[in-house]
Amino acid sequence: MADKYTAAADKFVALLKEQDARVQRMKEQKEFLDYAKLDKIIIGVCGGDGIGPYITAQGRRILEFLLADQVKAGKVEFKVIDGLTIENRAKVNKAIPDDVLAELKKCHVILKGPTTTPRAGDPWPNIESANVAMRKELDLFANVRPVKVPEKGIDWTFYRENTEGSYAVGSKGVHVDDDIAVDFCITTTEGSERIARAAFEYAKKNGKTKVTAVTKANVVKTTDGKFLKICQEVAKDYPGIELDDWYIDIMTAKLVDEKRRTQFQVLVLPNLYGDILTDEAAEFQGGVGTAGSANIGKRYAMFEAIHGSAPRMVAEGRAQYADPCSVIRAAVMLLSHIGYQEQADKLEKALDKCMYDEKKLVMTGRDTGATSEEFANYVMDTIKNMQ
Ligand code: IPM
Ligand code: MG
Repeated sequence: MADKYTAAADKFVALLKEQDARVQRMKEQKEFLDYAKLDKIIIGVCGGDGIGPYITAQGRRILEFLLADQVKAGKVEFKVIDGLTIENRAKVNKAIPDDVLAELKKCHVILKGPTTTPRAGDPWPNIESANVAMRKELDLFANVRPVKVPEKGIDWTFYRENTEGSYAVGSKGVHVDDDIAVDFCITTTEGSERIARAAFEYAKKNGKTKVTAVTKANVVKTTDGKFLKICQEVAKDYPGIELDDWYIDIMTAKLVDEKRRTQFQVLVLPNLYGDILTDEAAEFQGGVGTAGSANIGKRYAMFEAIHGSAPRMVAEGRAQYADPCSVIRAAVMLLSHIGYQEQADKLEKALDKCMYDEKKLVMTGRDTGATSEEFANYVMDTIKNMQ
């Protein structure tokens, strides 16, 4: 039998081969899908777990309302995809069951509810997160998370790398023996370049003057060092947009520095730092429940609520009172991504009015507040009144 070093080395070689194949795929897919050229855009709606199906159904109603003419004209089609539940995933012992993945791949864009992420000790097998798997399977490399608090001068757009770093093979680390466990962090040239370019392109199109790269390149020299170096190279193609570079530790501190934080505009960062910093950032805006998240790739894009599946609300019979605002924010981003900017603007305006200005209905998560359906109706009525 091979000794422990050889066994670990063999696993490492297998991982590297997988990564080589992935790099090859990235090199082959250079162009973004042009939605304007499609005869029909297929929007998948994938409820997920817990409160997911309840709030996602409301997101879908709103999208169907805003795109009613396009659906009638055969330019847009909705496709409801069931089966991405933790029960199904546990049953087939896969992050995404094959039939669900095949359905997802028939869509162009997807609106997704939260999915339960198993961990050791749960009643479920400790399978990979459905979120992480979907990002990898559909190569959704840019996780775009905007955070805005106008009265505090906060207007940030995070470009989190979404397929590499500590997440690339996060569920494929190696227990060398009882004493040593090793995980891997992967940075590729292609992967870093496409996220850096996406951040700079966004900055350019939106009149932003600064992109901030956030790494820990002084300590994590190889992978973060490469990420930062590539950001610096890409920056050369964008004269007029400054690149500054910060370390993740001090950046978490500076987000609470009221003077400094107003200077950040677009932030580009490796996967794990992006995961952490965007939760902190969303907190200033009212918590993760208020934020939407876009996962963009060249062929597919997925838009999701960034909070969890709240199984307790379902167990306590309160799922119908779940707050749909995060998934409605995701719907705004979806509309904008597929070229329906006018509808996106209307929805965003109505949602802001309902959530922050008028507040005729409030969500409390229980029967003291509105149901998800009532809130969605409120948003749609607000849009009707704006017309
Ligand atoms: C997020 C979430 C996911 C992540 C979890 C659910 C796997 O925290 O979208 O930020 O870590 O990316
Ligand atoms: Mg997160």
